[in-house]
Amino acid sequence: MSPIQRTWKINGKPVKVRAPAGRRLLDYLRDDLGLIGSKEGCGEGECGACTVLIDGEPSVSCLIPVGQLSDGTDILTIEGIEKKRAGRLLQQAFLECGAVQCGFCIPGMIVSAYALLLRNPKPSAAAVREALSGNLCRCTGYAKIIQAVRLAASRLPASAQKRK
Ligand code: FES
Ligand code: FES
Repeated sequence: MSPIQRTWKINGKPVKVRAPAGRRLLDYLRDDLGLIGSKEGCGEGECGACTVLIDGEPSVSCLIPVGQLSDGTDILTIEGIEKKRAGRLLQQAFLECGAVQCGFCIPGMIVSAYALLLRNPKPSAAAVREALSGNLCRCTGYAKIIQAVRLAASRLPASAQKRK
């Protein structure tokens, strides 16, 4: 398959992409760009460890060939999210709530939680549970993770929510 040549925005910066069309987005991000925050768990779209935002939607990067993404695609990885206010609040809240054990699932959890806070700044526990239903954690237990997301949401001032 011939290589694609595209320009995407990754974590707010334009990136010229040249890669075989079938290369997985996860491999491109980790191996070609050194963005190793996104993890590979199952490699089959089941665990959410590789979640990134594509045009604002949580997406499992292990299932997406780069050739599927058009010019101008906007990708946000955990490295970009942790520079945003809501991302930092989420990280802090996960630590405070004891929601991190081995940590392997956490980048994907935070990406999905960040997307939730963009569309629902004050989510109920049920809304958090639903938003994270594609992200699996073997260690922590979901009660603390849900508590952490709601704590971060409670600390996000209404005036800052457009700039999350
Ligand atoms: S590694 Fe992508 S969903 Fe599990
Ligand atoms: S903290 Fe270990 S898998 Fe979630």
